[in-house]
Amino acid sequence: MRKALFFSMWLSSFAFADDCQIVISSNDQMQYDQKNFTIPKQCKNFQVTLQHTGNLPKVAMGHNLVIVRQSDLESVATEALAAGPSNGYLKPDDARVIAHTPMIGGGEKAQTTIDVTKLNSEEEYLYFCSFPGHYAMMKGKITIEK
Ligand code: CO
Repeated sequence: MRKALFFSMWLSSFAFADDCQIVISSNDQMQYDQKNFTIPKQCKNFQVTLQHTGNLPKVAMGHNLVIVRQSDLESVATEALAAGPSNGYLKPDDARVIAHTPMIGGGEKAQTTIDVTKLNSEEEYLYFCSFPGHYAMMKGKITIEK
């Protein structure tokens, strides 16, 4: 009896953890496979894994996943360009960046974790790729469940 209870709690803790993560794929066609995702309200942290399923190298078709408030998108993307390839096309220690993965090339993957307690469910948040010229196509919306 006790063992069964423990086992069901163990199972539900795994189900809970699964709700607080997502895998997003990107490719050589400059696309993410998902244009939006939702962070369930029970998540204090939310882990995002970015895969690059293409073959092109980082210098030609680099992808990352950068999370910002919608209102910061244009300025962060513009300054990311200026930061250049040595910084992975992202201004270092940018306070406007909520979370970001490193820049990756074909066949690679990377992760980042969002501290959900720092987000405001009244704000609009987006994720985008800061590689030059990519964010017009590589952009998606984050919904925070209330
Ligand atoms: Co990209």
